[in-house]
Order: sequence, then structure tokens, then C-alpha cells
Amino acid sequence: MNLGTVGTGWITSSFIEAAQLSKEFKLVGVYSRTVEKAEILADTYNASEVFSDLEEMAKSEKIDVVYIASPNSVHFEQALLFLKNKKHVICEKPIFSNTGELEEAFKTAEANGVYLFEAIRNIHTPNFKTLKEKLPMAGEIRSAILPYIKYSSRYDLFLQGEEPNIFSSTYSGGALVDLGVYPLYLAVGLFGAPKKSTYIPVILRSGVDGSGTLVLEYEEFVCTILCSKLSHSTILCEIHGEEGTFVLEDAAPISQIEFYDSHSKDSKTLSVPLEEKNMVYECKNIAGIINTNNQKEYQELKRLSEIVLKITEASRKQNNIIFDSEK
Ligand SMILES: NC(=O)c1ccc[n+]([C@@H]2O[C@H](COP(=O)([O-])OP(=O)(O)OC[C@H]3O[C@@H](n4cnc5c(N)ncnc54)[C@H](OP(=O)(O)O)[C@@H]3O)[C@@H](O)[C@H]2O)c1
Repeated sequence: MNLGTVGTGWITSSFIEAAQLSKEFKLVGVYSRTVEKAEILADTYNASEVFSDLEEMAKSEKIDVVYIASPNSVHFEQALLFLKNKKHVICEKPIFSNTGELEEAFKTAEANGVYLFEAIRNIHTPNFKTLKEKLPMAGEIRSAILPYIKYSSRYDLFLQGEEPNIFSSTYSGGALVDLGVYPLYLAVGLFGAPKKSTYIPVILRSGVDGSGTLVLEYEEFVCTILCSKLSHSTILCEIHGEEGTFVLEDAAPISQIEFYDSHSKDSKTLSVPLEEKNMVYECKNIAGIINTNNQKEYQELKRLSEIVLKITEASRKQNNIIFDSEK
């Protein structure tokens, strides 16, 4: 499939390299608001088309699928433009600002006979699939703690008085939508939708959360998600069952999984080493769904996106975190 990209941050380069490794996509066009930046990216990865006009890119017959890696608040408008022009869209997490946008975008995709995906690396890895398959080994799940705590270099700028996009309400930023979505996807992918969720954030001067704790209540257990862009952590992810405990090195991409048996105290490694360019798994899965029109898998990914966004939106509402586009 012929690929076009939007945005010129490091994540776009990572995605292009993974897409090339997957052999499923051929980079054809790149878009930037600045021609020079688009030219540099196009030269680096041998793309033939350079765009600084998004409408022109959307109308190009040379492109089948577009990867969007712009600031969060911009995703919706850009995705809608491509979907209306019958391009498949792979949009970076968090896919959109709220569920209203998500619903409209999925309807637009369907009406135009194309697919819409949220780019979320962890649930596509073979280790996630193994974890889901092996979950019954733990017996009755009684608790889980899933942290994603990582000091952001952009927090230095925030402390100096600037407002980087990811800490900005104008650009739909914040710790939960930026980092918390990874463990949240993990929880929803493994345990389904919780019956109740409560978010306790630490709010920054910009009005969005710099860190927070999200408590997901299930019938028989509680899953606690910790997310922060203000600190560094060495805590591992753990899922505690009566028969055993899964220990994950990270919530994304899920680099390693150990299982500890509660009774024998034995432990074993369940994970496989991941590719260094671990976005390759999402590239392969997404291409597979499009190529084979795999509605079952598509609907499952759509369902996960919907549940995750519903929870982050509710979390914001509980705490009066309102993005500028919603004011
Ligand atoms: N999957 C992952 O592991 C991962 C990692 C990092 C980020 N992300 C996601 O990727 C997206 C981009 O993140 P980022 O940190 O690269 O964001 P960013 O630096 O704020 O912006 C990304 C790109 O968007 C363009 N841009 C900047 N401001 C814009 C504006 N006001 N309107 C339109 N375009 C604008 C810029 O490209 P041009 O100047 O060339 O137009 C910029 O390079 C986010 O949704 C983020 O959550 C995902």
C-alpha cells in the first residue's frame, strides 16, 4: 500500500522505518506545514511526493493510507479530510480529543469504504497476545497495577514557562491521554470495560494533568493505572491472580513477561524478544486487516478505541479538565 505521512517529529521517522520493515507499505508522500521539512523527510526515506497543502495530499491518487502524527487536537480535522477522500487512516494515540469526534470519524470511514485505526503499539505485539492467552494461568485476578511513569524532556520547557503541546489544553494534552492510554489499552484489552473508573490527577498550571492515578473497578478486582510525565519510575507492571502473578517490564511495548507461580514459587519467561522497531507489529496487523477485509479484528480494535476514549473523556470530566476545542 502506498503510504503518506503527516507531521515530522521523531515518531514519524520511527513509523516509516517500521512500515518499511513490515514490507507492507511503500512511503510515497510526506506532508509538513513547511516545504523544507517535508523535503528533508522525503529525501531521508525516498518518498517521491512532497506536500505542504493537506487538501492536495488528500486528493492525491498516489496515496492509499495516511499515518497522522500531529498534535492530538489536530488529529480529528486531518483524519476527517483523508477519510472523506477515501484514504485509510492510521492516527497516532490518543486518536481524538473525545468520543463525539471518534463516532463521527468512524461513521465517515464507513461511509467512504475505508478503515480508521489508532496507532497503539502494545496491543499488537506478540507478547500482548501471549499475555491474553495465558491470563487464565493466574487464576482469579485479584488486583493489577500498571504504571507508565516517564519524565518528559518537554517538562523542562514547561518549568521554564513555556507550554509544549503535550502539556497544553489547546492541543488536547496531558499525562493520561499521552502515557496513561498504554496501560489503559492493556487493561481494557485483557479485562474488558470496567464497571466504574475514577481518575485522581495532578493538574498543572495549563489546566491539564501532569500525572495521575486511574482506578478501574471490575467485578472481583481493582486495576490501578499510574501515569506521569513529571517523574521517573522503576516500578514494573503486575497482574495478581490467586494462582500466580504476571510481571511486565513495561506497559508498552511489553518487552518482557515473567510468570510467578503462587504455590511452587517457580517463575518462567513467557515473552519473546521484540523487534527493535516494534511499531512493525501494528504495521503488519493493520495491513493484514485492510488487505483481507478482516472485519472481526477491525471491530475489536474499534471497540478498544471506543472504550479507552470513553474512559479518558470521563476522567477529564470528573476533574474539569476541558480541552480548548470543547470550551
Ligand atoms: N506511538 C508512540 O510511541 C508515540 C510517540 C510520540 C508521540 N506520539 C504521538 O504522535 C503525535 C505527535 O507527537 P509529537 O510529540 O511529535 O507532537 P508535536 O511535536 O507537537 O507535533 C508533531 C508534528 O506535528 C506538526 N505540528 C506541530 N504543531 C502543529 C499545529 N499546531 N498544527 C498542525 N501541525 C502541527 C509538526 O510537523 P510540521 O511542522 O512538519 O508540520 C510536528 O513535527 C501525538 O499524537 C503523540 O501522542 C506517539
